[in-house]
Amino acid sequence: MIEIIGPLVHAPAAAPVATRGAKPAPLQKQLIERLQQAILAGRLPAGSLLPSSRSLAAEMGVSRNTVVIAYEHLAAVGYVVADKKGTRVSPLSSPAARGEPPVHTALPEVVYAARVAQFAATRTHTDNTFSLTPGTPALDRFPLGAWRRALERSMDEALPLALGYGTPAGEPALRDAIAAHLRMARGVRCEGSQVVITEGAQEALNLCVRLFTNPGDVAWVEDPGYRGAKAAFNLGDLKTLPIPVDAEGMAAPSGAWRAHPPRLIYTSPAHQYPTGAVLSVARRLELIAQARRCGAWLIEDDYDGEFRHTGEPIASMQGLVDDAPVLYVGSFSKTMFPALRIGFVVLPRAIGAHAAVALQEMLRGGHRLEQLALAHFIESGEFGRHLGRMRRLYRDRQQALRDALTAHFASAQILGGDCGMHLTLRLPPRVADRTLAERARAARLNPRALSGFALLPRAETNGLVIGYGNTPAERLAPAIDTLAELARELEGKPARGSKGAAAAVSGAALRE
Ligand SMILES: Cc1ncc(COP(=O)(O)O)c(C=O)c1O
Repeated sequence: MIEIIGPLVHAPAAAPVATRGAKPAPLQKQLIERLQQAILAGRLPAGSLLPSSRSLAAEMGVSRNTVVIAYEHLAAVGYVVADKKGTRVSPLSSPAARGEPPVHTALPEVVYAARVAQFAATRTHTDNTFSLTPGTPALDRFPLGAWRRALERSMDEALPLALGYGTPAGEPALRDAIAAHLRMARGVRCEGSQVVITEGAQEALNLCVRLFTNPGDVAWVEDPGYRGAKAAFNLGDLKTLPIPVDAEGMAAPSGAWRAHPPRLIYTSPAHQYPTGAVLSVARRLELIAQARRCGAWLIEDDYDGEFRHTGEPIASMQGLVDDAPVLYVGSFSKTMFPALRIGFVVLPRAIGAHAAVALQEMLRGGHRLEQLALAHFIESGEFGRHLGRMRRLYRDRQQALRDALTAHFASAQILGGDCGMHLTLRLPPRVADRTLAERARAARLNPRALSGFALLPRAETNGLVIGYGNTPAERLAPAIDTLAELARELEGKPARGSKGAAAAVSGAALRE
């Protein structure tokens, strides 16, 4: 046996390589690794008896204890079994260990689940220095000092207990703070017990799907509409029905209720994403009445309704009537910052208790310090003050963007603007939105192609969704100059400036 073991232990090819400056692994670890490799490769076949610890120790010039511990470790993991006669190699299922010729071990061709294959790669991640990105708030205007104080307070007050698992539905203090804020600011009828904290709105959407649908159920989505909702519905194996959107928001054809009765309906009534339409009250009431009639749930995504720029705030659909069949979804990605990954869903009072049992299994709580800090941030009034400052900032930025767009795209329609942090620009068919968006990225501009939000692309869905949240007002005009030059190039028109868009592009990139 020593003859078998000896070369294995001393074989230079199999020896762990000590990299320059790094300490070699301890002898015991080296011995374990060498024996494991020999067993897996079939050099020590199943059933072979290992030398006694005493003789191997003598052979290797190590202490007997080193060998004993190595054998014990191998036995604990199942490579060897020890009995009265000694230590033997276990029968293992690797072909080499069974003495069979090696098989090709590369991964087989990856076959994804059908729901995964439905995702098309249209979203390109850019860093936060790109201008015109929709959906990103003014990161450099976030009150970091106040947030740091809120975090420190939550650490002072809640550590070390808050290092443990939390309540699955989230920190009660945050749920109460959100409920109080929503009652006052968004007219939502709720108590803290109805609020479930999630990892952003996306997890809230996934949760709605899991709680209220079965595979094959029908879900309606606005078209064009939020990709996150479609993703959640795909992941739930739902049949997604695109519902067109007009100036009054989601426009459900009357026949659709009977032909394709939905289980879930996704809508963004305060500021339709991405067209910016506000869902009229007549349509809200109709949706509520019809959803009640056919036992459907409306998901109200109020992602940026806090930033209302014109007139009085528009109250939520959830609060419009008593016991509306509405799952109100919110997010702190815009009102605070996206990396916080805190969102929520407000469940109807009647289903809170039933859902609680499922939620115990589905959620684990977490981000407890951030949740507690956010509760302090809201209760202390910092959140309200931040929202007020951002509302004014976004109003100014939107005006600057509108002016720049009007100067360059006089005949194009600009949609939205009552709320939020983006405008949508319709483009003529000869300017393909995806091509323009792609070329814009080379200039570190990140508007999104409107057609990327459409399930059924039409002439009206050729356009750009242009964010102004994270782009200072003074950078908006040069960015739109560049975009306009790129659009002219696409149309085959001569560039306005003598040096053309390429010069404008690099100029804009340098100014970033
Ligand atoms: C329509 C809509 N809903 C919700 C969200 C927020 O998602 P999350 O909270 O997962 O960041 C976004 C973000 O861009 C959005 O555009």
